[in-house]
Amino acid sequence: MLVLPYILFIIFTRQGGCESARKDARGPIFRNEPPSRIEFSNSSGTELRCNADGIPTPRITWQTRDGTAVKDVPGLRHMRSDGTLVFPPFSKPDYRQDVHDTVYQCLASNNVGTILSREVHVRGGEWEIYLLE
Ligand SMILES: *[C@@H]1O[C@H](CO)[C@@H](O)[C@H](O)[C@H]1NC(C)=O
Repeated sequence: MLVLPYILFIIFTRQGGCESARKDARGPIFRNEPPSRIEFSNSSGTELRCNADGIPTPRITWQTRDGTAVKDVPGLRHMRSDGTLVFPPFSKPDYRQDVHDTVYQCLASNNVGTILSREVHVRGGEWEIYLLE
């Protein structure tokens, strides 16, 4: 006699659970989208911030213009766990065109969807100019 209401209760709460998960889910929206152009000196390095809101929390990745996923290059480029792409200061011989003078895009994705940022034109190694007095 008590079994039927119990089963109904389980069915009801399970559906309720699914329903509310679906209602909550939201595709990514950029909170910080990187700028379309950034120039930096080899002595300062730079950081490209990118993060997005969504439910579940979107995962951040970066890609180059041809769609290749950006990988860390030791000492020259790495992605922090918060999604920021970091270009540390570097010496002139370490300059690499495919790292320091190229186009990047940030991707934010969760199981609802994926969004792609604008293209970010990066130009690093603006060598310091010493003005004559
Ligand atoms: C940046 O380049 C200049 C000029 O080549 C050099 O003097 C300087 O040491 C470099 N900065 C770093 C952090 O290596």
